[in-house]
Formats: sequence, structure tokens, C-alpha cells
Amino acid sequence: MNAAYSTDGQYIHPSILNADFLALGAELEKISTADSVHVDVMDNHFVPNLTFGASMVEQIVRRSAIPVDAHLMIEDADREAPVFAEAGASSVTFHLEATAAPIRLARELRRKNAQVGVALRPATPVEPLLDVIGEFDMLLIMTVEPGFGGQSFLETMLPKIRRARRAISAANLEVSIQVDGGVSRETIERCAEAGANVFVAGSAIYRAQNAADEISALRELASVHRAH
Ligand code: DX5
Ligand code: ZN
Repeated sequence: MNAAYSTDGQYIHPSILNADFLALGAELEKISTADSVHVDVMDNHFVPNLTFGASMVEQIVRRSAIPVDAHLMIEDADREAPVFAEAGASSVTFHLEATAAPIRLARELRRKNAQVGVALRPATPVEPLLDVIGEFDMLLIMTVEPGFGGQSFLETMLPKIRRARRAISAANLEVSIQVDGGVSRETIERCAEAGANVFVAGSAIYRAQNAADEISALRELASVHRAH
């Protein structure tokens, strides 16, 4: 399998949701030592907020030194998600709650050369997905209700991460687990211990004095506490 994410690797993905949108070029440069840039696409229907569309993602892809990880918080992912693979996103993550045929969509995105992630809102159980988890490169376990940056981490998601990691390892699969929402120096260790290996951090990185230093600090904490 051509997974860009190796489950042996740990990855820091800054979210630009809390960046200065009017200075996006410079904001992207600040995080060029990270593994990917996490771009939150919101349609004001699936979540009560509106951000970027596919043409903006295409511009970010062109400008960014690192790959683009698109997190789609949009309705009707079956119809809308492929456009983001065509825009050049290296990975495209859609919500399970917003698709009628997740496996068909995953296969279509892979045909368009994107890595594929499937995301779950906090109240969506992971168990129904576990039998088909090998269809995806990544499972995104939301650790806040999607929609806004700067919310507090939901501790109650840790057992869900642990159960998912256990099932993925038991099936001998190479599926990454991404956490998104409230990830910071205070919470990243617990996520890593529970079995997450891809860490999205928005406000922790963009509100820090120095984004590159924050990225290295998060990377260090994640690797000291990695699950094994
Ligand atoms: C929330 C988004 C996140 C958000 C995370 O719906 O999916 O990517 O930017 O921001 P922080 O790290 O501030 O919680
Ligand atoms: Zn996100």
C-alpha cells in the first residue's frame, strides 16, 4: 500500500484555521518545518462556520512547502470531496456522518492519488467502522466538536483512540490515527500514549511566540510518549 503515513512515524500538522488569513503566504512559511499543513474546509452547513473552497486549497497547495492535509467539514462528501483531491491535496479526510458510501468514496479519492482519511465527530462511535478500516489510510478522531479552533480537548475521546488503535494493530493494518482539537503541550502526550500518531494543532502553534519551536516541542513530546 502506498501510505504516506507510516504508523511508525509521528506527524505534526498545524491547522491554519487560527492563522491570519490576510497574510496566509507568510503564515504558511512559519510552519514549513511541520509534516503537512492541515486545511479546515467548512461549508456553514455541516458545521456553523465557513472557510475555504477548492480553489483556495489549490492556491495553498501551490504555495506550501509541505503537503496539504484537507479536512472536509462539509455535507454531501460523496459529491464534493473528489474536487479537493483534484485540487492537489495530498490527503483528503471526509466525515463519516456526511457520506452515504464511504468505501466507494475512499476508492475514488485514491484513484485521484490522494491519501484518504475518515473522520468521526466526538459522539460518533468508532466500532461500526472497524471492520472496514483497512479501506482508509487514516482515521481522524475529533477531540472537540468540529467548527472552531481554540476549544478544550475532550478527555473522553482517549478510550476511543485506544480501542481504535488496538483494533488496527490486531488486524495488522497500517492505518494512522489523527487527533484534532485542543491538541497542545498539555494534551499531546496522552493522545500519543493512547495510540494517535498524527497530531493537528491550530491555536497551540499559531498563538505561540515561535511556531517552529512549538512544532519541535510537540514532536518531542509525542515521540517520548508514543504507544508501543
Ligand atoms: C476544528 C478544526 C481544527 C481546529 C483545531 O473543527 O477541525 O482543525 O483548527 O484548532 P485547535 O488546535 O485550536 O483546537
Ligand atoms: Zn481540522
